[in-house]
Amino acid sequence: MSIKIIGTGSALPVKQVANGELTKLVDTSDEWIRERTGIRSRHISTGETVASLATQACQKALQNAGKEAAEVELLMVATCSPELALPCTACQVQDKLGAVHAVSFDLNAACAGFLFALHTAYAYIASGIYRNALIAGAEVLSKIIDWADRSTCILFGDGAGAVMVERCDEGGILGFVQCSDGSRGRVLSCGSRPLNNPYASQTDFETYVQMDGREVFSFAVRQVPASIEEVLEKTGLTVEDVDLFVLHQANRRIIDGICKRLKADPDRFPVNLDRVGNMSSAAIPVLLDELNAQGRLSAGMTLVLSGFGAGLTYGACVIKW
Ligand code: UT7
Repeated sequence: MSIKIIGTGSALPVKQVANGELTKLVDTSDEWIRERTGIRSRHISTGETVASLATQACQKALQNAGKEAAEVELLMVATCSPELALPCTACQVQDKLGAVHAVSFDLNAACAGFLFALHTAYAYIASGIYRNALIAGAEVLSKIIDWADRSTCILFGDGAGAVMVERCDEGGILGFVQCSDGSRGRVLSCGSRPLNNPYASQTDFETYVQMDGREVFSFAVRQVPASIEEVLEKTGLTVEDVDLFVLHQANRRIIDGICKRLKADPDRFPVNLDRVGNMSSAAIPVLLDELNAQGRLSAGMTLVLSGFGAGLTYGACVIKW
């Protein structure tokens, strides 16, 4: 028994911001951004919200799966940039979709969020609690980025992706690994709200993304290949058996580094970060939807999905499509 993805969808804000536009905001250049990250452009919200983007992506995933909203039993939104502290984004999406029977909640594991939500759906469905799940990864990171900080504002983009999954007897998720290392949380962080009550108040509180880029980079190129090797070993497969590695889209150099460590063929590492930047939890489902729409996913293919990010959190799974 496992779960398989039966539909995908995605939604991006209308406005595209090319590197050249960022040179008007901070001391950077199109050349520096392209060479150090591989990013050329990203979509930035001019009003789209995490909830509205997640809703659109979910509607498309439902349509692609041939399912009605009322059939959904579990609805999860992975996000680290919700508009509201309460209610959670998933409940807002549930309402907009009319997914009246779906138990709905958010999950925050930053850039590994979508993957962790997929594994959570697996656990619920494998244990017989639910039969299907709709899972979105959605972010409007542009509201938690300091647009005067050139080391972060050039990296991120807004968007949402979603998948519909259901119980299956053959194929689907063959195995997964997931890990967290809270001791290294400081290398990528963002404050939410400062303590401010009649008895205490915090000063010196940072509400924008703070990042030690080099630390995150070296963590990714070391831990991600190790977790991919671990999940392949667990499922009795090798790097050669994998048709596509659908990795978190953070930096082209990170993807190249992972590919090199795995001694894999670069053609098996699809990339869209040049057009969308790093969309945190939305990165993997948006890339999956693009591959699906391009007809690049066919029955029986072996995929590795892998995410990593703040927490630190990271993980990987093997899917027989
Ligand atoms: O989902 C996970 C999220 N985070 C990540 O994936 C981040 C992973 N890390 C990275 O992608 C890279 O570390 C960065 C792209 C963030 C930075 O690239 P780097 O090659 O590690 O550069 P660096 O931080 O070592 O900085 C090199 C130089 C510095 O100048 P000095 O000190 O050598 O004079 C920076 O001040 O580049 C400078 N710099 C820039 N210059 C032009 C930093 N940002 C920029 C910029 N434009 N946007």
